[in-house]
Amino acid sequence: MTENRPNTVFSMTSKNIDAANHVTGRSLFVDDIPVRKGTLYAKVFGSPIAHGIIKNIDFSNAEKADGVVKIITATDIPGENQIGGIIPDEPLLAEKEVHFQGQPILIIVAKSEHAAEDALPLISVEINPLPIITDPQEAFKKGHFLHASRTFKIGNVDEAFKKCKYVFEGKADVNGQEHLYLETQGAYSYPLENENIKINSSTQGPTALQRTAAKVLGFPMHKIEVDVTRLGGGFGGKEDQATSWGVMVALASHLLKRPVKYVLHRMEDMRITGKRHPYSADFKIGLDKNYKILAYEATFYQNGGAAADLSPAVMERTLFHATNSYFAPNVKVTAHGCKTNLPPNTAFRGFGGPQGMFVIESAIDQAAKELDIDAHQIQQANLLQDGDEFPYGQIVQDSEAVNCWNEVSRKYNLEKIKSDISDFNENNPSLKKGMAMMPVCFGISFTNTMMNNARALVHVYSDGSVGVSTGAVEMGQGVNTKMLQVAAKIFGIDQNRIKIETTNTTRVANTSPSAASSTADLNGKALADACCQILNRLKKTAKQNLRLSDSASIEIINERIVADGNQTGLNWEQLIQVAFTTRVNLSAKGHYATPIIHFDKTKEKGHPFSYYTYGTAIIISIIDCIRGIYEIESVHVVHDFGTSMNRDIDLGQTEGGIVQGIGWMTMEELLYNDEGRLLSNALSTYKVPDIYSVPKEINVHFLNTDGPEDAIFKSKAVGEPPLMYGIGAYFSLRNAILAYNPNAVIPYDAPMTPEKVLMALYDKSES
Ligand code: MTE
Ligand code: HPA
Ligand code: MOS
Repeated sequence: MTENRPNTVFSMTSKNIDAANHVTGRSLFVDDIPVRKGTLYAKVFGSPIAHGIIKNIDFSNAEKADGVVKIITATDIPGENQIGGIIPDEPLLAEKEVHFQGQPILIIVAKSEHAAEDALPLISVEINPLPIITDPQEAFKKGHFLHASRTFKIGNVDEAFKKCKYVFEGKADVNGQEHLYLETQGAYSYPLENENIKINSSTQGPTALQRTAAKVLGFPMHKIEVDVTRLGGGFGGKEDQATSWGVMVALASHLLKRPVKYVLHRMEDMRITGKRHPYSADFKIGLDKNYKILAYEATFYQNGGAAADLSPAVMERTLFHATNSYFAPNVKVTAHGCKTNLPPNTAFRGFGGPQGMFVIESAIDQAAKELDIDAHQIQQANLLQDGDEFPYGQIVQDSEAVNCWNEVSRKYNLEKIKSDISDFNENNPSLKKGMAMMPVCFGISFTNTMMNNARALVHVYSDGSVGVSTGAVEMGQGVNTKMLQVAAKIFGIDQNRIKIETTNTTRVANTSPSAASSTADLNGKALADACCQILNRLKKTAKQNLRLSDSASIEIINERIVADGNQTGLNWEQLIQVAFTTRVNLSAKGHYATPIIHFDKTKEKGHPFSYYTYGTAIIISIIDCIRGIYEIESVHVVHDFGTSMNRDIDLGQTEGGIVQGIGWMTMEELLYNDEGRLLSNALSTYKVPDIYSVPKEINVHFLNTDGPEDAIFKSKAVGEPPLMYGIGAYFSLRNAILAYNPNAVIPYDAPMTPEKVLMALYDKSES
């Protein structure tokens, strides 16, 4: 539901161009690509145990099995057996040691998926087991790290704690999350002439796949072409971890000179791929008499799994967002990237930020409980204001934290919500409601400055139609529609003239993954650059053709050429014809690199983010205290979209993010046993929000701000920030439990599953 329709300077809405094909089943995903003659099917044989030394592998029977063409081992790899993106610590195929259950050891290539599957039980492997660690704090104690620990600090916490009126210490744990993209991981590759290889992949990072496939095959990158039509969801899970499947099929194609396909089955995908990182944390928070946070200290233990993958970058964002939307003058936050025997954990919407935010929200909640006040009194007293400095040195400008807070409180009448809830709770012995506020401040840019750039390639064809290529990968977030809007707006032409091409490494090279909520900003700006170059040439052509002076101003409005405000006889198609016949270049490549941003890792200071996205949510929940079942009743949000360029898509991203965030905080429970085996390995045991469990009401109010120059058309990045409103669901439920059982001792341990709610409702321990 949405209100206040646009009253913005520049506003556009446009239906998602994928909508019709999605709902009629015409959209093409990897598994829908018509296979070529002679296509073979790959399947991984993974480690049956989570840690050990491989003594012997016997696949002689599997090799002879019906339909099996080849079994690929590490020794078949012509280049490097290495797929680590940031740190080279992950082999494509295990050689000596295995580090997690399901870690790929062999690739079976067969004439059919079934033949590959049937060969699996014919393989035997002898592994000398080694101790298995699944807990990050245990890994920490043993000194098992994936990468260097880091600390961000400002002021002097030790001195500041001495001056605080109140100091509270505690612990918070937050579990991971399965991505559950509707389309599982997969790739299809085939050999081209001269040993070149083309890979169709469901990846957020076509260049990462190209680079890694080249490395593994021992090729220069130009021999590998990666093409992506769209993803049935990525959510970060295909930023780095789509690579291995793409490399495997490319390797098999190279060795066998045949097309090879591998689309993972759901349970295979759930079992082998990494997830959102679970974290454990210790915190200490100090307040003055006005509840201002004077000091905040936290230590984060990141459960990275068995290889670094994106963990160093994820951990960095945990530190960047450790103080969420609050200012604290004295902060010291440290994070350790702990190595455990789980599948390597990876990017997931929010990229470590949500975990950092959960911990400070826990600290604030604990302080509030001990002071017997509402958490939102502390939250409100500390919201970011212009001029405040983040622990990493960036100075707050154009903060909307207070505006969003005030607006959501006013618009949805916070005082009334509170009094209604307390009336309700007084009058209902077995039903209890709870409420929490959740402010969010999320930094926009890849934290790694180098990645903040993009390119685009635009062709205007002689009939006036336009082909647009960028590095943006469509994964449901609507970036293709936004790219279409950019080109249509700049050229002043109908969207139907424009085609968004697939994302392909031969057309747009050296791309950053579609991630960090920055895809539309980076690629949109690059696209705008390319379009403007062509537009400028066309304006010159128009002036010459219309015999106008150089100083005349030319615009293209609704496909008509307008000179000095007057309609001319020329339209878009005619102008393109003129340009074509007079040999004007109708193609351009654009480039964009985010200005200003920088970060010095040796000092842990800088200005890493182009801008911040702000918002505040009120989350109301209700618990049936007899059964322990609950509902999230409503979520009211005021979110700062800048000047939204597509309100329907931005609203969809906001609602989707909220629901995904609530799922993470409430019902989605990843469970591994001590052997490192995933127990919640199917949709029967891993529950995600469905139509019955989503909030009955989600109200999103667009705070219309001007929006920063570096956001595309001043429309702020929206992909990740709304997920973090879901954190409020945890605290909302906690408050509802305490309304029933004020003495319950409830550890800060997300998710708040119905089981945990029931236990807490009847918890008898004295606090
Ligand atoms: N929305 C849909 N429907 N599907 C997705 O996979 N990924 C999220 C978010 N929204 C995702 C999504 C993540 S993790 C990110 S980083 C952004 O979209 C990426 O797209 P953007 O940069 O265009 O916002
Ligand atoms: N966000 C998302 N993905 C990333 C980032 C980031 O900040 N850095 C590297 N990959
Ligand atoms: Mo998103 S986690 O940056 O792919």
